[in-house]
Amino acid sequence: MAGRRPPRFPGAAGPIRRPRAVARRILVAVGDWKTIIEPFRIHSVEPVRLTTPEGRARSLAAAGYNMFNLHADDVLIDLLTDSGTGAMSRDQWAAIQHGDESYAGSPSFYRFQDAVQDLFPFRHVIPTHQGRAAEKILFSVLGGPGRAIPNNTHFDTTRANVEATGAEGVDLVIPEGLVPSTLHPFKGNMDVDALERFIDERGAANVPVVMVTVTNNSGGGQPVSLENLRAVRAICDRHDIPLFLDGCRFAENAWFIREREPGQSDRPVREIVREMASLADGMTMSAKKDGLANIGGWLAMNDDRLAERCRALLILTEGFVTYGGLAGRDLEAIAQGLAEVVDEDYLRYRIRSVAYLGEALDQAGVPVVLPIGGHAVYIDARTLLPQIPPLQYPGQALAAALYREGGIRSVEIGSVMFGRHPDGSESPAPMELVRLAIPRRTYTQSHIDYVIEVVREVASHASELRGFRIVQEPPALRHFSARFEPL
Ligand code: F0G
Repeated sequence: MAGRRPPRFPGAAGPIRRPRAVARRILVAVGDWKTIIEPFRIHSVEPVRLTTPEGRARSLAAAGYNMFNLHADDVLIDLLTDSGTGAMSRDQWAAIQHGDESYAGSPSFYRFQDAVQDLFPFRHVIPTHQGRAAEKILFSVLGGPGRAIPNNTHFDTTRANVEATGAEGVDLVIPEGLVPSTLHPFKGNMDVDALERFIDERGAANVPVVMVTVTNNSGGGQPVSLENLRAVRAICDRHDIPLFLDGCRFAENAWFIREREPGQSDRPVREIVREMASLADGMTMSAKKDGLANIGGWLAMNDDRLAERCRALLILTEGFVTYGGLAGRDLEAIAQGLAEVVDEDYLRYRIRSVAYLGEALDQAGVPVVLPIGGHAVYIDARTLLPQIPPLQYPGQALAAALYREGGIRSVEIGSVMFGRHPDGSESPAPMELVRLAIPRRTYTQSHIDYVIEVVREVASHASELRGFRIVQEPPALRHFSARFEPL
């Protein structure tokens, strides 16, 4: 993946308005002039199955045109998610052999806790089987009717866990974060003025926690700056509200800070991560992302009383406080993963390889969220398929076409995912995106070249695509199991 001369954002404060050609260059991660290679050799391989267009059309119809209903065997390149789908390293598999399965006080737990606290020195670390379990516990304690929880953008499970308690999840990302084509180095930033106004309107007593998601997954995998975290921290301090990070992709966020934020370029990533942690009172985490593990997560915090209440719920639903729904071997894999994820060769390759896909699509005229995010490329389906109204789900139409054309599985992040509200009404989501999420250390450059060819082919006949209607949907989180029919 070609590296180019290191481009720099001139300043992190405002949006960047530059000619297109220059704008494209900021998509390139900082590296040297040579190709940025995968910093690993392949150690064991897993076959993928080539499929035919006819077979894929049949699989798609049988799945009710929902990517979550496909059998993974029928998928050639699986970009549904970067969550738990990455390859573990030799050293993680070796660490698994050290897993101690004691019910209480396992040494694997203490290794896990040390690894977490090395990056996030919160007083209490509560293991959970994945991120949403941490969310469920936290919001069960802090949520409830009449309360509102701001976030730059809630991820789907985060929003659902907030709403399940009767509380309201409110997205307050900066306005640039809602316009796919606007360039801004930290498009995941919280709108601090809107946050201040929001707390004033609702009353601080009704805002039990402020969340910031790093990177902002539902907003395009866009990073949040240290400057923004400091500003949010100051508001939280003024109103005596705790600040929690949704830290799923903390290492990718820290890499972007190093690349783009003035004064950060010479700092080790680990140090930037620790500064991010120092600005928060706690975090939820899915170790299936930047834990480089296939399962796991945690909830961490400084507040002793909150921790006590959360641990009581943990024991009720996840398990004892030193394993929380995980096997000892999983705790070992996460501990080792946390050491590897802040490695700078890894992060340089990671961010560059995602940008490689995004840049190629951008150069081919496919509308994508810019700048390219940390873990995924997001195609702007509303712009690519203007003939399909939002409530005929242009993102779903595009995802179906990518699968039919080339066996690529992606996911709609638009009105299917966010269009249905707790009161039963339906309205278009702010954006209609299709996410191509890149599993960590899993696919090679030729896999990605193939993805580029397929997307270009589908985009070349985009005007022929038609929308969908939903024929069956569950009461919540409908995107996971809804069934569709082509219009
Ligand atoms: N928060 C964010 C920002 C996430 O992206 C996810 C999961 C979660 C919380 C929940 O974590 O899956 O371990 O329970 N995101 C995955 C995705 C599923 O595909 O983006 P989990």
